[in-house]
Amino acid sequence: MTPHRTGAEEPAASTPPTTPAPPAPEALRGTLAELRRLAALPLGRGRTLPPRAYTSPELYAWEVERIFRREWLCVARAEEVPRPGSYLRLDVLGTPLVITRDDEGELHALSRVCRHRFMDLLPPETAPEHGRLERLTCPYHTWTYRLNGQYAGQLAGAPLMRRVDFDRAGCRLPAYRVEVWNGFVMLNLDPDAAPAAPELHGLDLRLSGYGIEDWVSVHTQVWEGVPANWKVAVENGSENYHHMGTHAATLDPVLPGRDTEVDECDGRWFTMFTPLSGPERSGTGPGRRARSGREPRPGMLIAGVFPQFVLAVLPDSAVGIRWLPTGPATHDTRITAMVPPGVPDTPGFAEQLTGMRAQLARIQEEDLVAVRGVQRGLASHPAPSNGRFSPLERPLWQFQRYLAQRLL
Ligand code: FES
Ligand SMILES: [Fe+2]
Repeated sequence: MTPHRTGAEEPAASTPPTTPAPPAPEALRGTLAELRRLAALPLGRGRTLPPRAYTSPELYAWEVERIFRREWLCVARAEEVPRPGSYLRLDVLGTPLVITRDDEGELHALSRVCRHRFMDLLPPETAPEHGRLERLTCPYHTWTYRLNGQYAGQLAGAPLMRRVDFDRAGCRLPAYRVEVWNGFVMLNLDPDAAPAAPELHGLDLRLSGYGIEDWVSVHTQVWEGVPANWKVAVENGSENYHHMGTHAATLDPVLPGRDTEVDECDGRWFTMFTPLSGPERSGTGPGRRARSGREPRPGMLIAGVFPQFVLAVLPDSAVGIRWLPTGPATHDTRITAMVPPGVPDTPGFAEQLTGMRAQLARIQEEDLVAVRGVQRGLASHPAPSNGRFSPLERPLWQFQRYLAQRLL
């Protein structure tokens, strides 16, 4: 029997192995050629993607491979894992994960698949989504994993396994990359990905007046299994043109879509700003400096980070929307409302929160009508031809360029 190693040896590399991506399947040749052509058009001639880009299982598999398994994804607020010992269970693109916070305050993202016989270490049937842990103990045969610092994920104990030839020191849960950006937990399933922060630095500058990293989550709504391709939802969240139709009675009277100023961005993120109209203008938050640079104007700043996150910031509240695909024509949506620190302690906040929840649910119901209706149109026969973009849909045009960069 080979003696097992114990104690304080350096842990083995904890990153999951990567394999080179296979080439795009032959079946995608036409769709990718169309994407290449569309992404090269100027905005003034911009058109939507073809309907098959929203229904094809082959393209979806390619997006998972080239985007979702390589890109930084916004998966939570850091305050959902508030203290040393806190955890949050997550499932991302079929990868079961747990986010933990160690004694030093550092976050870790670990696989939740036991290294013994593949049990979910925190099964939803018996473990809450959030909670506290000193160690992670498998409920099946009680193998236990450490959660501290560089040893996070390392096997700590396995009953009766000293009697067999077993490399204990080499047994650990795969760990994934995690960063905190403006208080959001960003996760990357690719161990070789470049850091998230540098690419988002320009967006940090635009958000700097708000102090979003300190804002407090007060409510999260979850819509699972929405019957639409993830890009339909992201595109819906990336333009305010639809305020005048979808949200005619809710958002448009206070945030008229037609007044939206869309910034000229390219790459991974975009911003746009809609001024508050009429009496709603009396907000006191940072707003946006008027083009003259004199007075801050109250309104809604939208900051989008491809592929799956949009943040809408008002003077006194913000909403973060995260989408994760669950198949070619389904996705989950998570919407988190946040307020500046201290606000939850102010008198009358409970009533304000009740109103905020109801308003969010109503607006989301309106958006669900839109994304479901669009998906039905995309799946119809004969396939409709590509539509034209308005100037307010610049972020969708930018999204095509982003997709081309990742998928071609
Ligand atoms: S599957 Fe986890 S201890 Fe057996
Ligand atoms: Fe909407």
